[in-house]
Amino acid sequence: MRKFMVANPKGGCGKSTLAIHMASWFAQHDEIVYLGDLDRQQSSRHWLDARPSNLAPIRHWEISEDEVLLPPKNCNFAILDTPAGLHGKRLKEALNSVDKVVVPVSSSRFDMLATREFFEELAATKAVRKERVDIGIVGMRVDVRTHAYGQLLEFLKEFDLPVVTCIAQSQRYLQAADTGVTLFDKDANSVAIDTQWRPLLNWLIRRH
Ligand SMILES: Nc1ncnc2c1ncn2[C@@H]1O[C@H](COP(=O)(O)OP(=O)(O)O)[C@@H](O)[C@H]1O
Ligand SMILES: [Mg+2]
Repeated sequence: MRKFMVANPKGGCGKSTLAIHMASWFAQHDEIVYLGDLDRQQSSRHWLDARPSNLAPIRHWEISEDEVLLPPKNCNFAILDTPAGLHGKRLKEALNSVDKVVVPVSSSRFDMLATREFFEELAATKAVRKERVDIGIVGMRVDVRTHAYGQLLEFLKEFDLPVVTCIAQSQRYLQAADTGVTLFDKDANSVAIDTQWRPLLNWLIRRH
């Protein structure tokens, strides 16, 4: 079983977008996939409810607030979406139950500053210090040909964290959120998937 979580304390930076796409990718490859959400608002749950039943199934990983974060036993891939503001005890618990953490970061100055404290908290966590979990950064709404990308790299140098990939801005992610249908459900062979998503998907399945 492989367990991933998507986290960044800033709202709107693309956590749920990444989580639903990761889930749908593995589901399309006939894996048993569970998608869980620590957010009280249960945005991933609502997204799953909207997902057409003829598409590759993604199961709901039911998590109650005070529960230990154990993924369902029969699953191949468990993906944990998390709320804005995740920190402290709940963050530690989540880190103890996954193998990899994906952190979406935009190139906005404000987002980068908001993420700094989170990186510091991550670095101080036992699971990270002992290298039990890997952390990978995804530049979200970032075009690698722009100056903004350079600024993001410059900011991340300080933390010695890898930028696994960058996902460009696209209307299609807004549609995916509304319809329950991801880019992978629509066209798994598109160029954007190969250049932007493939490095992340490869990083996720790589054993550390
Ligand atoms: N690469 C992108 N291009 C365009 N819109 C995006 C992109 N990533 C996320 N969005 C949109 O931004 C909004 C916030 O993203 P979301 O994944 O819900 O963030 P979070 O879960 O971190 O709060 C959503 O409406 C989503 O569709
Ligand atoms: Mg979200």
